[in-house]
Amino acid sequence: MARVLVGISGGIAAYKACDLVRLFVKGGHEVVPLVTPAAERFVRAETFFALARRSPYDDLYVHLTRADLLVVAPLTANTLAKLAHGLADNLVTEAALAHRGPVLLAPAMNPRMWASPATQSNVEVLRARGALFVGPGEGETAEGEWGVGRLAEPEEIFRRSRELLGETDSLAGRRVLVSAGGTREPLDAVRFVGNRSSGRMGVALAEEARRRGAEVTLLAANLAVPPPRGVEVVETPTAAAMLDEALARRDSDVVVMAAAVADYRPAESAEGKRPKDDQPWQVTLEPTADVLRTLGEGRTNGQLLIGFAADRGDRGLARAREKLEQKRVDLMVYNDISRSDIGFDAGDNEVVLISAAGERRVAKAPKDEIAAAVVDAAEELLREQGR
Ligand code: CTP
Repeated sequence: MARVLVGISGGIAAYKACDLVRLFVKGGHEVVPLVTPAAERFVRAETFFALARRSPYDDLYVHLTRADLLVVAPLTANTLAKLAHGLADNLVTEAALAHRGPVLLAPAMNPRMWASPATQSNVEVLRARGALFVGPGEGETAEGEWGVGRLAEPEEIFRRSRELLGETDSLAGRRVLVSAGGTREPLDAVRFVGNRSSGRMGVALAEEARRRGAEVTLLAANLAVPPPRGVEVVETPTAAAMLDEALARRDSDVVVMAAAVADYRPAESAEGKRPKDDQPWQVTLEPTADVLRTLGEGRTNGQLLIGFAADRGDRGLARAREKLEQKRVDLMVYNDISRSDIGFDAGDNEVVLISAAGERRVAKAPKDEIAAAVVDAAEELLREQGR
């Protein structure tokens, strides 16, 4: 998920930034708290680090130029003036100069300070540079005055932030189960029969569903990439574990089987490490249960099922069409593995989306864009089927 710089400047409303940080963390985002010395008079930086689940010894400078969003809440009149003039005398003002993404500012100050021509002209300068403002709202200030100067509510700041990060609620309230990676079927305690799937495609799908507000569980089979934040991760190293965990969540609204599940496993697995000798090692492979097919056959609750088919050329495409019916799924995502620049273990992918209504080719693109196209198709099917 996104990396968000949360700047906190020195006003009494700094305590409300605690809730804001919690909302970002709960939403699966990485938060980098930037606390000015004046803000520390109200809330210690350690509090924000603890809420952001980061070490207080983290070097924050490395994050200043690599973030998806900068939010300053509360923004005092003093920090606002510094931002308007490009000063760089603390972490927040330095971040504002270094950061290249969207900026959301949530002012909080005495109403007369907010209304003063100096502050208003600084606001205009920042607006003209593309900064967005949320609040301040009208109400009673901490000092007992009435007027416009109250910090916007953390929920409102969070809502605007999500918009700026391109997040939606189109899958809010939906439970989405995604499998990713490749299973490893043990030959003994150290050796296995496996495949080259990195899990990138499934991880991108889980992240995309999360960005759209879904409650996501990721069945993770030996991922070579880190799982996204904000999703429940369940380790499923083998086909048998994948089947058990998928069946335990058969009430999910959408299931996306992006994992490369082994079709066969060694019939016997030695305990400990099998010692070497000079005889050939005969291994008998027995079929595993097909997770997708089992879910397809057993589904009763109008769940949406999506499968992936990794195969070669036009014949593979024809087989993927057959799998749509055989496995009783709503959407098959066909991946041509005869090409080395896409698919397994690559950053890009190019797929054909196959449903009963027809087919659509999604041109070669990074896996997160392919994931967005797959989730778009899933949403369209949910709508069509009135779910
Ligand atoms: N799949 C599964 N359980 C298995 C094998 C595959 O759930 N034991 C799922 C995969 O996650 C994928 C889909 O089935 O979503 C298609 O997998 P694929 O390997 O292309 O097809 P298979 O049915 O295994 O057929 P084949 O290997 O003959 O192409």
